[in-house]
Amino acid sequence: LVGGMRASIYNAMPVEGIKKLIEFMKNPVVGDIFGKNYSLEKSCDNPDGIILRSFEMHNYNLPESVLCVGRAGAGVNNIPFEAYAEKGVVVFNTPGANANAVKELVLCALLLSGRKITDAINWTQRLQGKGDAVAKLVESGKKDFVGGEIAGKKLGVVGLGAIGAQVANSAIELGMSVIGYDPYISISGAWNLDHHVKKAETLEQIYAECDFITLHVPLSDSTKNMINVDTLKSCKNGVSIINCSRGELVDNAAIIAAVGSGKVNRYVTDFPVEELLGKENIITIPHLGASTPEAEDNCAQMAARQMADFIENGNIINS
Ligand code: MLT
Repeated sequence: LVGGMRASIYNAMPVEGIKKLIEFMKNPVVGDIFGKNYSLEKSCDNPDGIILRSFEMHNYNLPESVLCVGRAGAGVNNIPFEAYAEKGVVVFNTPGANANAVKELVLCALLLSGRKITDAINWTQRLQGKGDAVAKLVESGKKDFVGGEIAGKKLGVVGLGAIGAQVANSAIELGMSVIGYDPYISISGAWNLDHHVKKAETLEQIYAECDFITLHVPLSDSTKNMINVDTLKSCKNGVSIINCSRGELVDNAAIIAAVGSGKVNRYVTDFPVEELLGKENIITIPHLGASTPEAEDNCAQMAARQMADFIENGNIINS
């Protein structure tokens, strides 16, 4: 068994360590049990499998011995899976294992996009030291930071996989009207979808009708920059967009302009890059969607079990 546990599965481990890993994960210890200077090459010759989280595999020289690669997460855009498939290397992910964590962040983003909570928190913090004047200032803050409710508004969920479906269901519970679009999954086939979620026939319907749009699709050639100058034009005025999927789904220059003009009320993204920072009504979060101990454990265990099942029994799940 090699590799840092719990907080990061960036590293690799030999297959014989998987059962030990599963046992270890039942009693996890916070921290990197192998130290900070761990490296794949130094720690493990001829691995049969590699499990990783965010490690970038595109420029990584995959050892010939590797039979399978497991992504402890949903997206597989950090893995050249088509090239691996040609070599016969099996790649799998862990759909659903971190869905609750991402859903909770998306709900947080939805609420943040309706209310001016982030600005209000920052403003309130700056009242420190104002003593008796605080109460009066707070009264004026109440007027400056008025926001809107999400109940009764329409949410468009693009992508009805595990995360999109959970977000849609929770939004129904919060009183929103929800339409979902997915070219590959029918409403009846989506993960335990609430029957109040309606199907959008086209993406254009989502853009034209929704007050809030949340993206839950993988990054691919067809989804890259799906939110761009043209699609933003077809959105409702004052729409808010939430992106806890992949930063590249949104054309940053286009969203900055749309937020600046007021076309977009708020853009909340879990993928901050330099040009998005310091902009009014753009809320940036440092890719925290799946960063909970619960999600990390779920992903690690699912990935380890899948790898063990493949190596021991030849079963291939989620590839
Ligand atoms: C995912 O694809 O599920 C997330 O990027 C997971 C993560 O943050 O590692």
